[in-house]
Amino acid sequence: MAKKAPVRVSLLGCGTVGSGVLRLLRENAEYLESRIGAPLEVRKVLVRDATKDRGPDCERAWVSTSADEVLGDPELDVVVEVMGGEEPAGTYLQRALESRRGVVTANKMLLALRGPQLVDTAVAAGVDLAFEASVGGGIPVIRTLREAFSSDWVERLEGIVNGTCNYMLTRSRREGLGFDEAVREAQRLGYAEAEPSLDVDGHDAAQKLVVLAMLAFGARVDPALVPTYGIRKVDARDHGFAERFGYVIKHLAIGRDHGERLELRVHPTLVPAGDVLANVSGVLNANQIHGKALGPCLLSGQGAGALPTAVSVVADLVDVARARREGAQGLSTRGIQLEDRPLQPLDEVRSRFYLRFNVADRPGVLAAIAGALGEHGVSIEQMVQEGREHDEGLPVEIVMLTHEASWGGVERAFAQIAARDFVARPSRFLPIEAQ
Ligand code: NAP
Ligand code: HSE
Repeated sequence: MAKKAPVRVSLLGCGTVGSGVLRLLRENAEYLESRIGAPLEVRKVLVRDATKDRGPDCERAWVSTSADEVLGDPELDVVVEVMGGEEPAGTYLQRALESRRGVVTANKMLLALRGPQLVDTAVAAGVDLAFEASVGGGIPVIRTLREAFSSDWVERLEGIVNGTCNYMLTRSRREGLGFDEAVREAQRLGYAEAEPSLDVDGHDAAQKLVVLAMLAFGARVDPALVPTYGIRKVDARDHGFAERFGYVIKHLAIGRDHGERLELRVHPTLVPAGDVLANVSGVLNANQIHGKALGPCLLSGQGAGALPTAVSVVADLVDVARARREGAQGLSTRGIQLEDRPLQPLDEVRSRFYLRFNVADRPGVLAAIAGALGEHGVSIEQMVQEGREHDEGLPVEIVMLTHEASWGGVERAFAQIAARDFVARPSRFLPIEAQ
């Protein structure tokens, strides 16, 4: 029997994810061929440094530092982008789509910033743009939203979408691991972005939330408008107090469809200890999606790392290659329909809150804090004060849980309290996610 013509693939990038992709392509070559109906042939692998050792799965002859050589290959069918960043990745993918190549990408930054434009280009060219690995590493959340939810309406979602943050919060809560050491470990394990501040300051999660919002809410959103907070300010004291009140601190991406407006936000949050999300630990990610008809649906799994992410990339590659072989390109991308959706200002978001103050232990301080909170409509539900023995010279920690209040009210009360001379160290607040 005549051998089937191969589907020709080039990679842009061969770091953590790219090397995982090459490993799966080699180890699973026969199986992938049977799924696609033709073998996959790697043509080129674009990198910055041609002298680096790329391991046993990357043939020397594939390595190139010339984007023109890689993208100008007339035989090329599919481009797999695993280099990251907005540029030059954006220009390369635009070029690949315009020249009718299928594209698979893991790049949530690029999708959050230019996803709608890339989707339009792919639709106009009649080719596929697949991006399962951009959210949730190895978890099939994009496919689920695109395919399984096509008969339902997503009302809200909450996700632990950054593996690095979840890993760092878990190690800090369980073992008291310091911030710097925890980042280094996340980098060593291949979870962190090339620039880890994208993880710890919440931007990676915000970019993923924008990608999720494209599929869940059909929304075109500028990631710069998503209220975004990272985990730098969460410390061992917060983990300890949260536990005393029956909560665990998680870094969440939250989306709610309020009809005309969308509520999107990313921040650390107190989650009840019995909640499923509270028990998603380490590098695991989870997305809880609430369908109008379906109710809650939980997807959880390995959210970062070479092989889990490569599983999603290669699954996309199988889909794109098969569609190309069968002459059915572009169908999945055509289903993505986007419109501008205004965002609800964070100020108006209502929640219960955890508040921590470090203040002088002297008469009138508690009354002043309670007064400022009350002035801004924030009512206290529970409180603990912790210090050593009573000594007016030493500050104490006062922690409160509030009834439901507005985010803006808490912020205004905090600004008022921060100006008072009894404040020893900056106060902190975190929202509490309702069950
Ligand atoms: P990485 O380890 O830093 O690898 C990036 C690769 O891209 C390297 O091979 C690098 O070349 C190459 N590269 C970067 N800029 C380039 C340029 N201008 N020209 C040519 N080559 C360039 O990154 P990664 O962790 O694999 O992540 C890749 C993408 O996957 C990112 O978008 C990331 O957000 C996403 N992602 C990562 C994970 C994860 O767990 N790591 C999970 C999901 C999604 P050199 O090797 O020569 O420097
Ligand atoms: N840096 C990302 C994370 C990689 O930690 O979740 C997966 O997208």
